[in-house]
Amino acid sequence: MTITDGTPDPRLMPRVELARAFRTVLTSSRFLSRSGYADSQGASALRAALAEEFLNARGLSISADNVLITHGSQMGLFLAASANLSPGDGVAVEDPGYPFAWSSFRAGGARVIGVPVDHEGLDVDCLAQMLRHDPGIRAVYVTPHHQYPTTVTLGAGRRLKLLELARQHDLLIIEDDYDHDYRFDSAPVLPLAARVGADQRLIHIGSLSKLTIPSLRLGYVIAPPDILRRMTDLREAIDRQGDVPLEEAMALMIRNGVLGRHARKAKRVYAQRRDFLLKEVREKLSNAVTFSVPAGGLAVWMKIDARIDGDAWTVSAKKAGLHIERGKRFFIGSQNDINYFRFGYAHLNTDEIAKAVDVLAQHKTVFC
Ligand SMILES: Cc1ncc(COP(=O)(O)O)c(C=O)c1O
Repeated sequence: MTITDGTPDPRLMPRVELARAFRTVLTSSRFLSRSGYADSQGASALRAALAEEFLNARGLSISADNVLITHGSQMGLFLAASANLSPGDGVAVEDPGYPFAWSSFRAGGARVIGVPVDHEGLDVDCLAQMLRHDPGIRAVYVTPHHQYPTTVTLGAGRRLKLLELARQHDLLIIEDDYDHDYRFDSAPVLPLAARVGADQRLIHIGSLSKLTIPSLRLGYVIAPPDILRRMTDLREAIDRQGDVPLEEAMALMIRNGVLGRHARKAKRVYAQRRDFLLKEVREKLSNAVTFSVPAGGLAVWMKIDARIDGDAWTVSAKKAGLHIERGKRFFIGSQNDINYFRFGYAHLNTDEIAKAVDVLAQHKTVFC
């Protein structure tokens, strides 16, 4: 069994409905009449469905023209950096944060600069100080809804400060809203993209990986027209177009309400699994880890007690068949006192969660 960093449960996916949607697309006369290439910005049916049915509910008043479809948000991150930054430019990122975003930024030659994170998310005052000392910082990457990996939500005051700071320093904001639908204890918090004026440079990146499964590569980008054009041109240069049948099938799933129904059901199930996990951990691991209850998302960020050797714990659990990764890789530095893990629970049902916690409890005896 594997504890991931927070992935959905494929068993919940509406697979039969997706297969049906594929069949509808592949047997349509439109499909047969199309022999050439399609729009590199993505299938207009999916862009329109996302804009009208999905993203407007997030306070984003946009049309299909404002959306670029990508192969997952990873491609969006790469395009955002490559189309907007020059080698040597600095990108401020959350530390701890999302290493796959850092890889995309570094691939374009950018310098990745860590900004600390606390219980309210990115430390915006610290970012302000860094900007004073390093005018080469041209962009900031944030996961404001559920900070990756800590799961905290960027506070309202910090959001306003960040937008103001970005305006003052002409910083490009790259907002990664990777799990918007999974907010359990309140309505989802509107993205930063819903708060920016027309004069502000913000790239909003989203993913369908958490709502469906990561192996269906679908993500999207919303950005001002000039930025979206550059990103679309670059996408065309490396990958002429997306997977049109998949994009059109997903558009059908949005239009016929299947994806919305799935999102509501998955949210209910994952909220129950989160509560179950926290109950199990309180009962069986209370002397080993501490955590804050995440308001949403598919994982819990756990701090391992200082007396426990986290490396030995994970090695011992692995021998018992449970794979769990230490949280070190989410930190930019390589300090040895980093004693966390991100417990992705959503892909496990309650029996599996109980088994995983049992294994951890049985193997936590390794005190330094
Ligand atoms: C912070 C963050 N952004 C984005 C993604 C989604 O990536 P993709 O859409 O490329 O599957 C993930 C998935 O784990 C993530 O954790």
